[in-house]
Order: sequence, then C-alpha cells, then structure tokens
Amino acid sequence: MSVPADARSRSVDFTSVRDLAAPDMAAVDALIRDRLSSDVVLINQVAEHIIGGGGKRLRPMLHTLAARAGGYDGEEHIKLAAVIEFIHTSTLLHDDVVDESDLRRGRSTANAVWGNAASVLVGDFLYSRSFQLMVELDRLSILRILADTTNTIAAGEVMQLLNIGNADVSEDDYLQVIERKTAVLFAAATELGGVLSDLSETQCAALRRYGMELGYAFQIADDLLDYVSDADTIGKNIGDDLAEGKPTLPLIYALQSAPPAQADALREAIRHGGLDSLDHIIAAIRESGALERTRERAQQHAAAARQALDTLPENAHRDALLTLADYAVERTF
Ligand code: IPE
Ligand code: IPE
Ligand code: MG
Ligand code: MG
Repeated sequence: MSVPADARSRSVDFTSVRDLAAPDMAAVDALIRDRLSSDVVLINQVAEHIIGGGGKRLRPMLHTLAARAGGYDGEEHIKLAAVIEFIHTSTLLHDDVVDESDLRRGRSTANAVWGNAASVLVGDFLYSRSFQLMVELDRLSILRILADTTNTIAAGEVMQLLNIGNADVSEDDYLQVIERKTAVLFAAATELGGVLSDLSETQCAALRRYGMELGYAFQIADDLLDYVSDADTIGKNIGDDLAEGKPTLPLIYALQSAPPAQADALREAIRHGGLDSLDHIIAAIRESGALERTRERAQQHAAAARQALDTLPENAHRDALLTLADYAVERTF
C-alpha cells in the first residue's frame, strides 16, 4: 500500500514524539535489560533474542507520555513501563506459538529457533517477572488494574482460538476479541499514567478510553497490514492470519460485499486456512472495498481516542498522545 503524503508528514511527527519520550524510554530500556537476566542460560538467550529484536516499545511509551501528560514527576512510571513491556513480550512469545509464526521483529521467532516449549516457558518467565516488578510498587490499585488486564488478555486469546476457521464471526465478535487481546493493555498503560499522576477519576477514565480506542485502531491496522504490507517492512510474515483461518476485519468486510462466487472462496479460505490462494484472496478482498472500510474503521477509533483527551490539560505530552492516535493507523510497521 503506498503511503499518502499526509501520512508521511505524520510520520515526521512520530519522530518528535519519540524525541520527547526518549529520556524516559532510555531509562525504561535500561531497567528492562537489568531485570531480564536469569541464571538459566536458555532464559537469557530467548529473552535477549526477542527483546533485542527491538519492537516499537509503543505501550511503555504511551505509559510514560500519559504519566507526563498528567504532570507526574516521579520515577515509578519507568518501572511500570517495563512491567507493561514485559507483559507484552510474554504475550508475543505465546502468540507466535499459537499462530505458528516464524518471523517477528525481522528475526526468526523464538519458537522457530528454540521450539514451542522454550517459547511458552520463557513467556511464563517474563510474565511472572512482570509481577515481581509490579509488586515492588506496593500499590493495590495498580496491581488490580494489571491483574485484571492480564487475565482479560488471556481470555481474549482463547476467544480468538475459538473463532479460528469460523466464517460466521461477526464484526462485533471480532471487536470483542481485539478489545481483550490487545486494547486492554493499551488502556491499562495510559490509565496507569493517570493513576500515578493522581488525576481525577474522570481524567483516569478518559486516559483509559483513549488507550482502549487507540488499541482498537492499532489492532485493526495490524490486521490490515497482514494483507497489504510486506515482510521486509513489517518484520513479520504477511498472510499469517489467512494461513491460520483467522477471521479478521478485512475478511469480515469482504464477506459482506463480495459477489457470491468470491464470497464462497473467502469462506473456504477461512475454514481451511493455508496460503495456497493468498493472491486470489487478497484480490477478492481488494475488489470488495474491504481494505478501505477496514482503514476507515481504524481511523474512527483513532478519532475517538483523540476525542477522549479533550478533558486533559493541554501540554506537549498530551499533543504527543494525540499524534500517536494517528500513528496507530498510519504506521507502516
Ligand atoms: C504486536 O504488537 C501485537 C499486536 C497487538 C498486533 P506490536 O506491533 O506493538 O509489536 P512490537 O512490540 O512493535 O514488535
Ligand atoms: C496480537 O495479535 C496478539 C496479542 C495481543 C498477543 P496478532 O496475532 O495479530 O499479532 P501479530 O500479528 O502476531 O504481531
Ligand atoms: Mg500473531
Ligand atoms: Mg497480526
């Protein structure tokens, strides 16, 4: 998909957001490195492989920006940001096993290199390490949000598993899955910025709404990129969702408007998965207008995210959050 001119100028904005967050993010990265280590060599190898692969660090960045937007000037946001990235990383290790993916962050996945068992177990290590870190903060309200979040993510992944191969999954079913598996972690990341800053309940709820809407936009964009990007750009294999028979929004929309013969082919592809007919399926999705509709849907959520920030005080960090709502959709990887 070519990048429109306005998206290019927005990606320049993303650079300035990164610059604004850079001092905090350097501290977050240092803490992640510091807390990654174990005396078990395989844990260090696998964790270093996935963490060292980079990633956008978007969730911890959102957390630090939200905390700063709320006027926070302590140090605990660094630890919480690391917690959030550990949770995210553990879900990626598990997700790549479940999705049978072999490329992430431009590298072979941990499951491709060390096998499923090592990936699941090191995922558990990172997940439980995140809990060790979060109890150090000694704040029940924070623990409650993160315990609920991780439990919801797990439920979302199971719901998604149940939807595999089901061509009757509705847009609403899909939205329920992405809220749980993806959006709630973004919501927790931004809400916790408000909690640390002692913002009012209304403002914390607004930050949570912002993160939730951004999370929807982000996952919808991810599901679009799975059809329109390429492995070199996105660092993941394209077509993984179709290969698995995962009914994501581009497919759901295409099924609603494709002519009967093409709709049958799409249903068949969801039921049986596989990449044999990827080109054919992408053509059918493209012709149905589903890609544009999917993109518009993501943009609606990004707009709702921006709107949620209306109640927050105006400052450079809030502006950065506004930019990231657009970035969630306009990003190319
Ligand atoms: C991947 O998240 C999982 C999804 C929710 C789509 P990211 O795209 O944020 O992955 P990294 O951390 O940048 O690699
Ligand atoms: C994100 O879904 C899964 C999690 C939130 C763990 P995807 O399966 O679409 O993510 P990618 O595409 O593998 O990164
Ligand atoms: Mg996946
Ligand atoms: Mg994906």
